Amino acid sequence: MANLTRLNVLMCGTGEYTTGWTGQGASKSDKKIGVVGLTLFDLRRLGKVDKLGMAGVNGSKFPLIRKHLQENIGNVYKDMATSFDEFPKDGKHDPEAYKQAIDGMSPGDAVVIFTPDNTHYSISLYAIERGIHVLVTKPATQLLSHHNALIAAARKHNVVCFVEHHKRFDPVYSDAKARAQTLGEFNFFSAWMSQPKSQLETFKAWAGKDSDISYYLSSHHIDICCWILQDKAVPTRVVASAATGIATSEPYNCVPQTEDTITLLVDWESITSQKHKGTAVYTASWTAPLKAGIHSAQHWYYMGEKGDINVDQAHRGYDVTVDETGKTWYNPFYMKYSPSETGHFDGQRGYGYISIEKFVDAAREVNAGLARPSDFDASGYPTIANTILTTAILNAGRVSLDEKRPVGIRKSEGVWILE
Ligand SMILES: NC(=O)c1ccc[n+]([C@@H]2O[C@H](COP(=O)([O-])OP(=O)(O)OC[C@H]3O[C@@H](n4cnc5c(N)ncnc54)[C@H](O)[C@@H]3O)[C@@H](O)[C@H]2O)c1
Repeated sequence: MANLTRLNVLMCGTGEYTTGWTGQGASKSDKKIGVVGLTLFDLRRLGKVDKLGMAGVNGSKFPLIRKHLQENIGNVYKDMATSFDEFPKDGKHDPEAYKQAIDGMSPGDAVVIFTPDNTHYSISLYAIERGIHVLVTKPATQLLSHHNALIAAARKHNVVCFVEHHKRFDPVYSDAKARAQTLGEFNFFSAWMSQPKSQLETFKAWAGKDSDISYYLSSHHIDICCWILQDKAVPTRVVASAATGIATSEPYNCVPQTEDTITLLVDWESITSQKHKGTAVYTASWTAPLKAGIHSAQHWYYMGEKGDINVDQAHRGYDVTVDETGKTWYNPFYMKYSPSETGHFDGQRGYGYISIEKFVDAAREVNAGLARPSDFDASGYPTIANTILTTAILNAGRVSLDEKRPVGIRKSEGVWILE
């Protein structure tokens, strides 16, 4: 593929997922050195990526972020440079620094967005309108109307826009998806995902104010369910229920409207059979117990006409017990941080890495004229067009909680709407 050129990438957001650096120091989660920065530094080492930039809000954080990345990545893995251009520059504070960064880019470059949920739409749109390919983390947007607008903008400007639903690249989930296709009509899906209460500290700048736990965590399994049911069934109605009281009490003291655990009950209808209807229950919590030995509890159950599937992604038959800290179940299938035999980064097969690499590959193929952005819609990729029903369900769940009523989902003149 001689005409594939290296991709210039701007990372928007400098937080836990990008650098592993939180406002309070290195993250205490399972992402102490982040995922996005590390993956892109490695893709630069391997020749797929060229210039790298990082845009945040508070420029005074960059010296500490650079030190953290140098100590934990640059000094740990062989041949790994951690350099990048920073925005805002000179220690300034500017929530719109991403605009200056994007204005300095060229059409065909790329932006990877890991910022608070309520900022995804405006940053994505700004980039797309300038001909920049976009990888935006989940939830792509909080409003269905915004998701529809991003689909239209990506088509108009002919750019790749993927939602970073990395669980689609988990070998167990993608195998389970293929097996679900053989089980006939859909009947029942239930998913549980939770993180320990300590995350309320990490996310205190926005938790409960700018987003909720359903958008933050249930987005993962709602997307998996929508992916399994693509072209088989559609969601028609959402009713939400929330448990409260832990996040808003000592020591977390989140804003009064913060929910602890949110459940969405969703009706689905078969596309191919008038008789078959299904039910899905998606629950997410950020008030799960501390010291459970796992960072994210995550399991789901799928039942079809001819069989069922059980997935427990938190416990994979691999645990480590240490005197001081007790038992921990690790997930190197997601990000493997231990170096290779030669001392290089060795996590290229982790699905956290693959998800970003597939986007980089897609953008490079489009830039080289080997593919069109619309080609990826025809595949199982989490393109902005292929993920519309995930946002429809999440948005309907939020409206159901706020307005205490069931919310319908339907297609009107080719566009998905809530009612
Ligand atoms: N932490 C995870 O494990 C994880 C996993 C997958 C996806 N995500 C998603 O990534 C996003 C961010 O999560 P995080 O865990 O890194 O959060 P975080 O709170 O640690 O970091 C958020 C970052 O966004 C920056 N930011 C805020 N407004 C901005 C703006 N206008 N322009 C540029 N940067 C801005 C903040 O400065 C901060 O660096 C969320 O949407 C989340 O759903 C997180």
